[in-house]
Amino acid sequence: MKIPIYKPWLAGNESKYVNEALNSSWISSKGSFINKFEQSFSKFTDISNCLTVSNGTVALHLALLALGIGKGDEVIVPTLTYIASVNCVRYVGATPIFVDCDPNNWQLSLSHINQKISSKTKAIIAVHLYGFLCNTLKLKEIAVKNNLYLIEDCAEALGTTIHKRHVGNAGDISTFSFYGNKTITTGEGGIVGTNNNDLAKKIYKLKNQGVNENKVYWHDIIGFNYRMTNICAAIGLAQMENINEILSQKKIVYELYKKYLSSDHVFFQNEQKELNESSSFWIISIQFKREINCEKLRKFLFDKGIETRPIFYPIHKMPMYHNPKLEGDYPNADKISKYGISLPSYPELNEIKIKYICEKIKEFIYL
Ligand SMILES: Cc1ncc(COP(=O)(O)O)c(C=O)c1O
Repeated sequence: MKIPIYKPWLAGNESKYVNEALNSSWISSKGSFINKFEQSFSKFTDISNCLTVSNGTVALHLALLALGIGKGDEVIVPTLTYIASVNCVRYVGATPIFVDCDPNNWQLSLSHINQKISSKTKAIIAVHLYGFLCNTLKLKEIAVKNNLYLIEDCAEALGTTIHKRHVGNAGDISTFSFYGNKTITTGEGGIVGTNNNDLAKKIYKLKNQGVNENKVYWHDIIGFNYRMTNICAAIGLAQMENINEILSQKKIVYELYKKYLSSDHVFFQNEQKELNESSSFWIISIQFKREINCEKLRKFLFDKGIETRPIFYPIHKMPMYHNPKLEGDYPNADKISKYGISLPSYPELNEIKIKYICEKIKEFIYL
């Protein structure tokens, strides 16, 4: 049995729309699918301006640029996240200030943020880790009180809601990724979302080489080519047509893992009831309650045909960001990363396979 960590669900109109794009000859970043995909995304998330870009990393870069964050500024980031949530801070010359995560939900620890805010802090990047909710209502309060911007990295959280509102609406700017393992995919791709029309205009200009709105080939700021192609948008539109089905399948995957893995052994991220959270259940990730050697476990599972991933390594440990003076300052992230793994989590994963994966995990625990 071969069980991959993820495979996208491409069972809808993906090929049809891609062929339409090809036949129309609009294969670059102009063409009708761009607009249709952006509109469909905007309707689903209720974020009024959704601008397609080439991936979730450049989406974050544009967010920081549009907010004018740069050299000398500090940006609060979680240490337990994917590398892109932090690299973007360095792209603009600012300094990331790491915060540990909450051991109960793995999200940016609200109780550790205040002590990290200084006169140089300009923004907080909230990441909805593994598709579960980072409490953006509280973060918004902290941001407003301290005159900071709030950026929501929703790369893993398409479909996640807080009090029935889609994530990405609390921050000044939000970003999404459509890499192949995300809730929906466009191959590579991303969206920058904002409810602020002035910011949307800035982002549009920045992703389009800084071109002047009224004069072709006249560029009055330094911009980038961060555009999405019409072919990618064609895939994205088809994916959006099936998003509710993808999300409900993923919820079933999460529930099946909970059914077959006892909470005596394993900690699961849970939806926060007090926030009326609904998760995207991006990649189901668990933390063992015992001190399991996760590298050995992953090798054991791999030999049984099961692909897994380590939990993200905390970014403060990476050579570019490592500061020996801060070693030991992020115990929760260190522990979750050491004793956790991410499990196969694609929409079509059936009960027989999930049961098999869980049996193999238990076999290893009792070895
Ligand atoms: C939390 C987070 N932020 C940003 C990104 C970057 O997205 P992309 O891979 O599309 O550049 C990812 C995706 O992999 C992610 O998981």
